[in-house]
Amino acid sequence: MSFKRKDGIVIHDDPQDFEKMRVAGKVAAECLDYITPYVQVGVSTGELDDLCREFIISKGAVPACLGYHGYPKSVCISINHVICHGIPDYERKLADGDMLNIDVTAIVDGWYGDTSRMYFAGKPSVKAKRLTEVTYECLMRGIDVVKPGARLGDIGAVIEEYAHKYGYSVVDMFCGHGLGQVFHDAPNVMHCGKKGTGALLEEGMFFTIEPMINIGKPDGIILANGWTAVTRDKSLSAQFEHSLAVTKDGYEVFTYSLKGLDKPPYKIEK
Ligand code: MF3
Ligand code: CO
Ligand code: CO
Repeated sequence: MSFKRKDGIVIHDDPQDFEKMRVAGKVAAECLDYITPYVQVGVSTGELDDLCREFIISKGAVPACLGYHGYPKSVCISINHVICHGIPDYERKLADGDMLNIDVTAIVDGWYGDTSRMYFAGKPSVKAKRLTEVTYECLMRGIDVVKPGARLGDIGAVIEEYAHKYGYSVVDMFCGHGLGQVFHDAPNVMHCGKKGTGALLEEGMFFTIEPMINIGKPDGIILANGWTAVTRDKSLSAQFEHSLAVTKDGYEVFTYSLKGLDKPPYKIEK
């Protein structure tokens, strides 16, 4: 267990902490693998939530979202113009052409693994596919700059640069976050910003990168349920998320798919 902080960010200097994160990250990633074949036209987001919760519990883990600040469900499912924190609902059945993000956080032995991916129901539009591809690439480019001596702003800068190349915008009302034995901790990981600014990255820092990219403007509004953020202009929004550590010479991602299902198109049967 580690209490050392630098710039307010926990430094995990015990190899055991990495091992705990590998286990928690694996359960969250496995849950996204598991749910993949169930994402079909006609299934409700409430049913997908039930399946994810049952999966997480079957692994001896706890769904972190359930009851978190009063959040009523186990995962977030954000469809089309929903930016994030879509609340699963038995009335909302997936329709042909829907694009959706499923965001799973599992707690294993007190440690948090947090990851999300995009999925398609039926046949996606060309613009949905393109936004999804670019958003995945934004996440991976953001991850790729992580190493000791880099700065937090370097991550946002590469994400923003890549998104803007396609005319997309980067949501700035939500960010990635430190995690470990807590769900949301320092630092705030902005998905836009300036190279060479922000906190210096150090070996042993654990955080998420989870860019939300919109086809239209970056502005979002929160619905009356107090959680769900949607794009103000109703444009499509996509997101991918990984949990990772800064290592001696780079990074370690804790939430890769074990089945090569990190991004669509997914070809898998139940
Ligand atoms: N998993 C989300 C994140 O990436 C947080 C969801 S909190 C909830 O940080 F309460 F909305 F579920
Ligand atoms: Co997160
Ligand atoms: Co998440």
